[in-house]
Formats: sequence, structure tokens, C-alpha cells
Amino acid sequence: MNPETSPFRPGQPVPIEFFIGRIREVERLRGMVKASSEGKFRIGFVSGARGIGKSSLASFVRHLSEHESQVAGCHVILGGVEDLNEMLRRTFDRLLKESMDKPWHEQIRNFFGNHVRRVGLFGVTLELSLKDSDLSTLAHDFVPTVTRLLDSLKGHKSTLFLILDDINGLAGSEFFANWLKGTVDEISTSRRKMPLCILVVGLEERRQELVSKQPSLARVFELIDIAPWSDDEAMDFYRKSFHSVNARVATTDMRELVRCTGGLPVLAHEIGDAVWHTARSLEIDSCEVMEGILTAAEVTGRKLLEPQVFSAIRSERYRSILRKMSDEPRTRFRRSELLDRLTGEEGNVMDNFLRRMKRLGILETDPEVKGGYRFPNLLHAQYFWMESRRTKA
Ligand SMILES: Nc1ncnc2c1ncn2[C@@H]1O[C@H](COP(=O)(O)OP(=O)(O)OP(=O)(O)O)[C@@H](O)[C@H]1O
Ligand SMILES: [Mg+2]
Repeated sequence: MNPETSPFRPGQPVPIEFFIGRIREVERLRGMVKASSEGKFRIGFVSGARGIGKSSLASFVRHLSEHESQVAGCHVILGGVEDLNEMLRRTFDRLLKESMDKPWHEQIRNFFGNHVRRVGLFGVTLELSLKDSDLSTLAHDFVPTVTRLLDSLKGHKSTLFLILDDINGLAGSEFFANWLKGTVDEISTSRRKMPLCILVVGLEERRQELVSKQPSLARVFELIDIAPWSDDEAMDFYRKSFHSVNARVATTDMRELVRCTGGLPVLAHEIGDAVWHTARSLEIDSCEVMEGILTAAEVTGRKLLEPQVFSAIRSERYRSILRKMSDEPRTRFRRSELLDRLTGEEGNVMDNFLRRMKRLGILETDPEVKGGYRFPNLLHAQYFWMESRRTKA
């Protein structure tokens, strides 16, 4: 089918109407934003595996909140940012840019005054120009600055919902950790109303890293951990997506898609899209579904795996072990079970293989099972299983 009409959007944010599941998490986050709109400061950490939908959840709640009440949302992607000043620069710059088509744009512009510059080929973009000394002042005066900013938006917006997404680089910064703790303390001791909700988004390892830099932060965050979709949610996703373009897929085939997805939205879009590309008509049959799944395994390997992982498993000997390790979707196995499935030659290199996989972070020792291993990353487990099916087909 024509790729342009695909209802799936791999690598892109999900449109609001296609957002599936996460009802409890959405309610919890909406509750936090609502509390902050009543002047009670809230701060949360959204964690979960890669591609599980952390950014999408934050973005969905932001849109809901903006429509429901006087909330100004600001979603900043901080991948690669390692220091506090750069984080602040990007945050306020984002706020300026996001206000551009909003009725409160003039107020924001006035607030930033002559720090706003016109940039871009035809001067169509605005940029916030802040010197290092401005940023240091901003870090120091963050709370009063947000208060003044909200004052200037009176009549339009009364609450700021700040999403600090992808804090990978910042999680290692002691300076950032201390600043965050200091900000929380400043707000809680001032006893003034603070209509601010901050949502930090990242992998659980990053939260732990951040907390290791400033242990008191552990008590500060409300934790929202995102689990994989249930089978019903994944089913709902495929049903709605295919239905939206009047395509028909048999329920048994849909179940197979769900099994391959392993609850990971990022895979759901890749698999769905591959099936769509394979299909010749809106009546999508079992062969096309299977062919799509196999293509998705190839595409996923190239697109979603880290290059060092992808190249390590290119070796034919290792791949044959991997396939036997993942003969069904699973996230843990025992060394002895694996050994039983291998040929003598494969068995001879198995321990080398396991060590290499551990070094690459693909496997780790399972602390709950003697001689057990597990995949810390669900995406890897799911990929190896799809890959084992691909080579058997
Ligand atoms: N609830 C959902 N409904 C439908 N699609 C979703 C949902 N959540 C995520 N997706 C889709 O899955 C893909 C990955 O989602 P997203 O980028 O939000 O994950 P993430 O956890 O932030 O990933 P990363 O760890 O790489 O930052 C995107 O293409 C997104 O559109
Ligand atoms: Mg993300």
C-alpha cells in the first residue's frame, strides 16, 4: 500500500486521537497538573524502557491540560544537554517558540524584552539570546522568574507545566541535581502558592544516577513508571489504526502482531508500518502480515538497536546462538536451558558469547535465578525473537 496513507507513524509523536492506553498514568499526571494549578507545586519523574512511550505520555497530558485549564505547557527535549545553563537556555527558548502562535505571545515577548532576536532565513523564527551571566542569574532566580512570568500572563495562563524530557546528559550533573533540590526546597519553604508542575522524563537508570548525585532527590519525585502495553492495549492500537484507513486484518493475525509487539509502542508502529507497506489491498491476509513482521525485524535491527549491538550480532556464530536463546518472546532464561539447545560447536563458544553480551549491556545476570540471565532492555529481547523467526521463515 502507499506509504503516504499509512496509519502508523514510526519515529514520530503519536497524534492525540491515536494515543492508546495509559489511563492510570494519565489520570495521575492530570491530578498533579491540577494540584499545581491550585498553587501546589508538584514534581514527578516519568520513567520506563526506551520506546515505551514516556515522551508521548507527557505530551498527551500536556495537551489535555492546556485544553482543560489555564496551563502553559513547555516540553523541552534535553538529549545531549549536560549542564544547567544550557538546560535553562533551551527551556525558556522553547517557551518563547511555543508561544508564537498563541494569544499570549505578546506578553511572553515583552517579558523577555530585548533578549528576543529574529533569526532564520526570512527572520521568521524567534530566538532567546542569553549570555552566560544571564543564565547564571536565571538559575539563581528561577523561582521568582517563573512567578513573574506567570504574573505577566495573567488572564491567559496561570500555571506552568514544564516537561524536562530526555535528561540523559543532565542526570550525571551534580550541579543540576543540587539545583533541582534547591529549587524544590525554595518553593516548599517560601509557603507561597507556586502554580508550577515539573515533569522530568528519562530511563530509570537516569533517575538513579540523578539521585546518586543528590540523595535527597529520591524523596522529592512522584514516580510514574510506564509498563509495557497490555495485550488488550496493543490489540486496541492495531484495531484502531487499521480501522482508521478501512483496512481489514483477521483477529488471529492481529493477535500475532500483538505477540510480536511485546507491549512496546515503538515496535507497534514499526511492525504496523511494515505490514502496511507489504499489503497489496485493504484486505490484508495472513501471508502479508507475516511478511510485514519479518521486514519489521530487519528494519528494527537497523533503526532501533545501538550500532555496537547490531554489529556484534552480525557474526553468524553468535546469531545462531541468539536465535536459539529467543525461540519465544521472553526476557529471561537459564544458562543450562540454552546449553541444551546448542550444538557442540556453539556450546564451546557460549560462555564467550554470554560475556560479550553482558559487556555490551544486552544481557545481565538474573539476581533471582542461579545461572540465570535476563535482557535489561525489552526492545532487545523482542528484537532477537523477531530475528529468530525471520531466519526460520
Ligand atoms: N500511548 C501510545 N499510543 C500510541 N502510540 C504511542 C503511544 N506511546 C508511544 N507511542 C509511539 O511509540 C513511539 C515511541 O514513543 P516515545 O517516543 O513516546 O517513547 P519514549 O519512551 O519517549 O522513547 P525514548 O526512550 O526513546 O525517549 C512513537 O512513535 C510514539 O508515537
Ligand atoms: Mg522520549
